Amino acid sequence: MSVAKKQYKRVTTKSLVDMKANGQKISMLTAYDFTMAKILDGAGIDVILVGDSASNVMAGHETTLPITLDQMIYHASSVVRGIERSLVVVDLPFGSYQSDPKEALRSAIRIMKESGGHAVKLEGGKEIKESIKRILNAGIPVMGHLGLTPQSIYKFGTYTVRAKEEEEADKLLEDALLLEKIGCFAIVLEKVPAKLAKKVAESISIPVIGIGAGGGVDGQVLVTHDMLGMTHEFNPRFLRRYLDLYADMTSAFQQYNADVKSKDFPNESEQY
Ligand code: KIV
Repeated sequence: MSVAKKQYKRVTTKSLVDMKANGQKISMLTAYDFTMAKILDGAGIDVILVGDSASNVMAGHETTLPITLDQMIYHASSVVRGIERSLVVVDLPFGSYQSDPKEALRSAIRIMKESGGHAVKLEGGKEIKESIKRILNAGIPVMGHLGLTPQSIYKFGTYTVRAKEEEEADKLLEDALLLEKIGCFAIVLEKVPAKLAKKVAESISIPVIGIGAGGGVDGQVLVTHDMLGMTHEFNPRFLRRYLDLYADMTSAFQQYNADVKSKDFPNESEQY
C-alpha cells in the first residue's frame, strides 16, 4: 500500500538557517489556537510562535508574566494540531527557566512532550547561558530573544526601544554571538535600533528575526492579533496593520445583534 506523498515541505530549524544563507527572508507570526494556526500554516508562514503574548492577547493580563507552563502547553498543543508545514516555536514562560538549568530543561521537555512543538524560545543572553546549553544538550532546538525582553519589564520599567546606548548595544551583540556559539538556531530581536539589528544579523550566521528592529534582519515577526487590527490600544511605530478587524468584527456583531432582535435572523432558509 502506498502512502500519498504530501505536497508541502516542512520548515525545520535547518531550513531557516539555509534561508538566511540564501538571502531568503523568514516570516513568523504568533498563534495560540488551532483555527489561527491552520490559517497561518495554509498561508505559507514559515514559523508560528506560540508566544507568551498569549498572556496579554488571550487572557487580558497587563504583562506576559502571569502565564503558566500548563497554559503555554495548552495553547501550543492546540496550535500543533493545526499545522502541516510551519515550524512551531513555543515560549518558555516567566518562572519556568530562570531559577536553574535543571528546571529549565524540565520545562522545555514538558513543552516538547506534551505539546508536540518543535522548538522553545527563551528570553536573555549570558545570564541564562547554562540553561540554554542544558536544553540544547537534550536535543531541543532553542531560539533566543534579545533586546526588549517583556518578561523583564519590571527591570526595564518601560517598553521603549532598547540598546540605544553603546554599553547596552555592545552587550546585545556579545549575547547574540554567544547564543550562536552555544547552538541556538535563531534569535528574535525586539525593539532595538535598525542599525544595531542589521549589524547583529551581519555578525552571525543564524537568522535574526526582528520585531521593531528594521529591515536589515533575516525575518520579521508580529503578534497576529495586532497585525489583523484586532487590538486597538496598541500602536507602536513598527506595527503594520493589514486589516481593521476590530471595526469589521464590531460591525458584524452589531448587525447580528440587530438581526436577532428584529427577528430577521434566522429566516426561512436558515432553519429546518
Ligand atoms: O510572545 C511573543 O509574542 C513574542 C513576540 C513578540 C516575539 O515573544
